[in-house]
Amino acid sequence: MKQTIRKLLNELDALLVAHFYQRDEIVEIADLSGDSLELARKASQSEKSKIIFCGVGFMGQSVKILAPQKRVFMPKIACCSMARMIDGSYFDKSITLLKSYGIAEIFPVTYINSNAEVKAKVAELGGVVCTSSNAAKILDFALKQNKKIFFLPDRCLGQNLAIQNGLKSAVLGVDSMEKIKEAEIICYDGFCSVHQLFTPQDIEFFREKFPNILIVVHPECQPEVVKMADFVGSTSQIIKFVQSLEESQKVAVGTEFNLVHRLRKPKKGQEQNTFVLSSTKPECPTMNETTLKDVLQCLEAIKQGESYNEILLELEIANRAKKALDKMLQLS
Ligand code: 13P
Ligand code: SF4
Repeated sequence: MKQTIRKLLNELDALLVAHFYQRDEIVEIADLSGDSLELARKASQSEKSKIIFCGVGFMGQSVKILAPQKRVFMPKIACCSMARMIDGSYFDKSITLLKSYGIAEIFPVTYINSNAEVKAKVAELGGVVCTSSNAAKILDFALKQNKKIFFLPDRCLGQNLAIQNGLKSAVLGVDSMEKIKEAEIICYDGFCSVHQLFTPQDIEFFREKFPNILIVVHPECQPEVVKMADFVGSTSQIIKFVQSLEESQKVAVGTEFNLVHRLRKPKKGQEQNTFVLSSTKPECPTMNETTLKDVLQCLEAIKQGESYNEILLELEIANRAKKALDKMLQLS
């Protein structure tokens, strides 16, 4: 099947792209794998006319927005549950609520895990997109705007950024009006259900078991977890960090299972040094749905001239969303 896929990719002038949370069988055959920022940048700049995107919807959409001339297909329709926690109407309602609190000057920053409509609305207010790997840089830029920062949809990433910068944060719809008005970063109440699994108790458990273990987590984890970690980073940054460690260094990683499982597979007879930071398997269900069979079916359908899960966006929304994504690329 792998050979047929490679042959079809060549024939169709298509690039196979996979996020690090995809199954091994997909990452192994992909032309390009990476974190959200790398995939958006490299896939949109590639010479291929078609992109076969194995990941979740907002990732494929970002490539389509940045390179509208390319055709982007998803072998499986997969949605990020965090991205689905906000749409255009919830964004509008949030802005109305902030204004009713007397907050008129708002600078929105949306995590890339949001749909095109939300990115377009953020752009309309002069805002910008960020990913987990460039969030600190984007926040520096946002702070210079001298407006209240509205960070969406991930409250954890927003709170973690605030803590790292010694700023006050509050969660819209959860905290009091007074707390919201005092906050320098106001967060939307979204979260990643996969990264919520990791707890301070998991960290205590591993540190008790292996006193020299290092704890590495993604910034979508809860602030109490991030505060206790030895290293925090995007999926790419986590991979680089763990691969730079001595083989004997034990590490427990708080992010999606597929990535952690691939990090440092023990050789025969060697003890295990890389652990998933949870007793429950942290699996992103939609990321795990795409199989090689789906990729093959998708390519065969394209060859027959069918539109197989092609990403199509309203031009006007895509053009507006592009402004917020372009600004992010300039800044990172
Ligand atoms: P990265 O940008 O770090 O790959 O994160 C994407 C994501 O959805 C993590 O859950
Ligand atoms: Fe979305 Fe969480 Fe899955 Fe990442 S791990 S794609 S944030 S649901």
